[in-house]
Amino acid sequence: MDNRTPPSQGILIDDDTLQARIVQLGAQINRDYQGVKDMLLVSILKGSVMFLTDLMRCIHIPHAIDFMSVSSYGAGARSTTGVVRIDMDLRQNIEGKHLLIVEDIIDSGTTLNYIRGLLLSRLPASLKICTLLNKPTRRTVDIPVDYIGFDIPDKFVFGYGLDLDELYRNLPYIAIANVSHE
Ligand code: IMP
Ligand code: MG
Repeated sequence: MDNRTPPSQGILIDDDTLQARIVQLGAQINRDYQGVKDMLLVSILKGSVMFLTDLMRCIHIPHAIDFMSVSSYGAGARSTTGVVRIDMDLRQNIEGKHLLIVEDIIDSGTTLNYIRGLLLSRLPASLKICTLLNKPTRRTVDIPVDYIGFDIPDKFVFGYGLDLDELYRNLPYIAIANVSHE
């Protein structure tokens, strides 16, 4: 088994479907941010990196990018405690900037809820959230999500940036894990 051969062969969203949806998201963002200055895409490491690099190619509004890395206490595959630790913060002052958080997946919502609150306290001009994947049935914290690539069922997924025990982020599609990651 190598890093391109996942343990599960169940493909949830294939490469073409992902790319087509990302083009649509980019078009929607271009419309919404027309004329906006100081746009900043904030990518949450590591899972959103592949999504960021494809999405930003579809965004024609001038923008900068920056990265944050967070981890959830008690984290196995799923964050349950609601306590989030900032492992790497943004490198810049975001006051007055138009932030678009780029995330791979929203599950319970606790991670993004924390990040959103933290970034809002730094007084950006605006803050919106764009997630590739959304598990609506898992939500425990109500957060506003402005752009959603796909609503998916309550299954553990990996590929296209998302990992299965740190592997398979390189897959160009989203796969479903057979194993339970509770
Ligand atoms: P939340 O705080 O429960 O919304 O969890 C969000 C984070 O949990 C994501 O950024 C992922 O890192 C991780 N996560 C949740 N579900 C999955 C999944 O199905 N596959 C991979 N990572 C996941
Ligand atoms: Mg993530």
